[in-house]
Amino acid sequence: MMSQNAFAGDKYLGKEFQKLVKKYKIKNIVETGTSKGDTTLAFSKMVDKVYTIEIKKEVYQISKKRLEEEENIHIFLGSSPFILKKLLPSIKGNTLFFWMLIGGITGQF
Ligand SMILES: C[S@@+](CC[C@H](N)C(=O)[O-])C[C@H]1O[C@@H](n2cnc3c(N)ncnc32)[C@H](O)[C@@H]1O
Repeated sequence: MMSQNAFAGDKYLGKEFQKLVKKYKIKNIVETGTSKGDTTLAFSKMVDKVYTIEIKKEVYQISKKRLEEEENIHIFLGSSPFILKKLLPSIKGNTLFFWMLIGGITGQF
């Protein structure tokens, strides 16, 4: 079952993403801003691989521990533009780029 906190608690958004994933045969999702990893986990049930990036070290460490048993989740520490530059060329297949810096925007670009 999807965590209530995934997609900032918006069940409609989760369902819409699921439809898009199916329609466009999306295999990979990139999430910028892992936070606690609730949306990351929801995505991991929809596609083959999820790549997620978190800028805050303490948040990254907590989420890394929480998500460590999910084999299709790859979590990175750093600022999205820098990580994305290296990461995106290495991802094969359809990728849905998902920008999720809503709510707790820190403006750390
Ligand atoms: C609103 S939360 C993300 C919520 C999460 N995607 C979810 O659905 O549960 C925003 C997160 O983005 C992180 N963040 C802010 N600027 C960032 C950047 N430049 N690169 C990566 N992460 C960033 C913050 O530390 C915070 O954890």
